[in-house]
Parts: sequence; C-alpha cells; structure tokens
Amino acid sequence: MKNPSASKSRTKPTPKPIVVVVSGRGSNLQALLTRAEAERWSSELGAKVVAVVSSRAEAEALAVARAHDVPVHILLPEQFGSRSAFDEALARTLDRYAPDLIVLAGFMRVLTPAFVRRYAGRMVNIHPSLLPSFPGLDTHRRALGAGVRVHGATVHFVSDEVDAGPIIAQAAVPVHADDDEASLAARVLQQEHRLLPQAVRHVLEGRVRLSERRAVLVGIEHGELSLLAS
Ligand code: GRF
Repeated sequence: MKNPSASKSRTKPTPKPIVVVVSGRGSNLQALLTRAEAERWSSELGAKVVAVVSSRAEAEALAVARAHDVPVHILLPEQFGSRSAFDEALARTLDRYAPDLIVLAGFMRVLTPAFVRRYAGRMVNIHPSLLPSFPGLDTHRRALGAGVRVHGATVHFVSDEVDAGPIIAQAAVPVHADDDEASLAARVLQQEHRLLPQAVRHVLEGRVRLSERRAVLVGIEHGELSLLAS
C-alpha cells in the first residue's frame, strides 16, 4: 500500500517558487541557477527555480534550464492574436507554479499593464544600463555614443512603464577609451551575473520589497545594493 504521508510530502509545493522568463542566451539564468546551487537556496532559503518560460523556441536558455532539470515552457507570441492574449497565457503558465518571484532575465517583450499589476512586487527585471539612463534596446551602443564614463546594469521591480520600475540594485563599470560595443557588453554582463542573483536573494529574503512605488530596504545597508567594478 502506498504511504499517504510520503506521497503528500512529495507533492508539497516549494515554499518560495521562482519562475524565470527568458527569450535568448540564458547567461543570467545560468548565473542564478549556479548561485542558487552554490548557496543551497533550496534548503537555506526554501527557494527554488521551479520553471523557465521562453518566448522563443530556439532560446539557448532552454538548454541551460534542462541541464539543471528545470521544467521549461515555450510560449510563442506568434501563436496568440494579441499582446493581452499572450500575457494571459503567460499568466496561466506562471500561476501553475504560484511563484513568489518572477525573474525576467533577457525577456524581450513588453508586458501589458494588467499583467504587470497582477505581479506587482513579485516581478523583477535585469536591464543592461544604469537606469534611468538608456532604457530600451542597444544600451551599450547608445552609452558609447553618449560618451558616458560609467555604465552598468540595473535590477528593478517591473512597473507598467518599460525599464522604469523602482530600482533594487545596480552595478557600475568603467567605460574604457578603446571600448567597442562588444567589450563594453562583456564587462557589463560579467557584473550582471553577480548582480542578479544577489538582488534576487535579497528580495526572497524580504530585505527589499516594493512599497508605494519604491524599493524599500529592510535590515540591509544601501551599499549592499551597489556593485562597483574596476
Ligand atoms: C542581458 O544583458 C540582460 O540585461 C538583458 O538581456 C540580456 C540577456 O542575456 N535584459 P542572457 O540571456 O541572460 O544571456
């Protein structure tokens, strides 16, 4: 006879499920999974990446997820008649996991305000610039064009204005005289891989939360949310 309590414990939901939403390469997903494993988030924080959702079938991030035994879902925008239809399907997929946190890690779509409201305070994004400078695409090219001396990356709560939600954490890097888009992107990406897992951990621990359109800190120093690379 089956042991009912054993099957009950097998189906017990993870206390803090995280779902990561991607569209491409997946290096930030990789960084998050690596850090979660190294720091034993599952036993230490009761938090786990339980699923990855991709808006592209050929996203390399899918292989990253599979290599870590994380279930994947592919939702192709072209299969939906409208932006809101896509977002509703995405919400249905996410809600299957009752996520504590949704991490947009290279997700290349604008979300509808209704979707954003539904997950307010539970959804973060990583953007490759020091916001509010350079929201949108081609941030490294635009930073070089503007002649900035310092560039970087931002993790923020997602709001209904693209790349403009309350800032959680930032990493800054110098811009070198001989930088091109690729070298600058690589320097920023290296910091993204430190920044995102750290910011996610702080949010999971309740040390950073959304309140009145600001990211409020609880029991951590402001300095823990800024990385300055040389
Ligand atoms: C990163 O630069 C991230 O900041 C931006 O998209 C890129 C995704 O890279 N939103 P990857 O897929 O995590 O490698």
